[in-house]
Amino acid sequence: MKKKVGVLVSGRGSNLQALLDACADPSFPAEIALVISNVPGVYALERAANAGVPTLTIPHKGFPSREAFDSEMDKALRAAGIEIVCLAGFMRLLSTGFAEGWRGRMINIHPALLPSFKGLHTHRRAIEAGVKLHGCTVHLVTPELDDGPILVQKAVPVLASDDEDTLAARVLEQEHKAYPEALRLLAEDRVAVEGNRALIRDA
Ligand code: GAR
Repeated sequence: MKKKVGVLVSGRGSNLQALLDACADPSFPAEIALVISNVPGVYALERAANAGVPTLTIPHKGFPSREAFDSEMDKALRAAGIEIVCLAGFMRLLSTGFAEGWRGRMINIHPALLPSFKGLHTHRRAIEAGVKLHGCTVHLVTPELDDGPILVQKAVPVLASDDEDTLAARVLEQEHKAYPEALRLLAEDRVAVEGNRALIRDA
């Protein structure tokens, strides 16, 4: 049985597209059953609709608190029978309750080699810091921002000629490989967590 996945988005959805493309392979162990956006009208919603995946827009602005917004998302995910949640460019902090409720079953993609460069503007900060390697990380979500056991990382060189945009593009290419790989690991139940470490069992 394929695992049912819910994807949370806020924008253009290129990582969502990478997941949709991976799930189109009949042998992939997961299927995307719901896409939720907190921002109306974003391109990610169109990508989901084009793939025949149900979508829901839940504008966070309509809720009195982060907890109330998260609880609405939680209800929708559970009503759809979702087993794994993927954050794909979802630009909202999560409440502790929501993160705990999906612990071990929710993953995020971050555009840096964690634990370096948590937070925003990761490519600009990597160039400013003078690092020679940069990249992306898919990790299990915990209540702390951009924290949690790491499942997959991919590195790219930082070139002398790079600006924020060229570096971002090089990292994004790797994000689109890393995210389906990580989702496969989780969907195949190959991840065991020991403290901060995710141990991956062989297929
Ligand atoms: C991606 O680069 C993702 O890693 C990043 O936002 C972009 C979304 O692009 N996520 C974060 O910064 C999370 N804090 P996409 O909508 O095309 O997938």
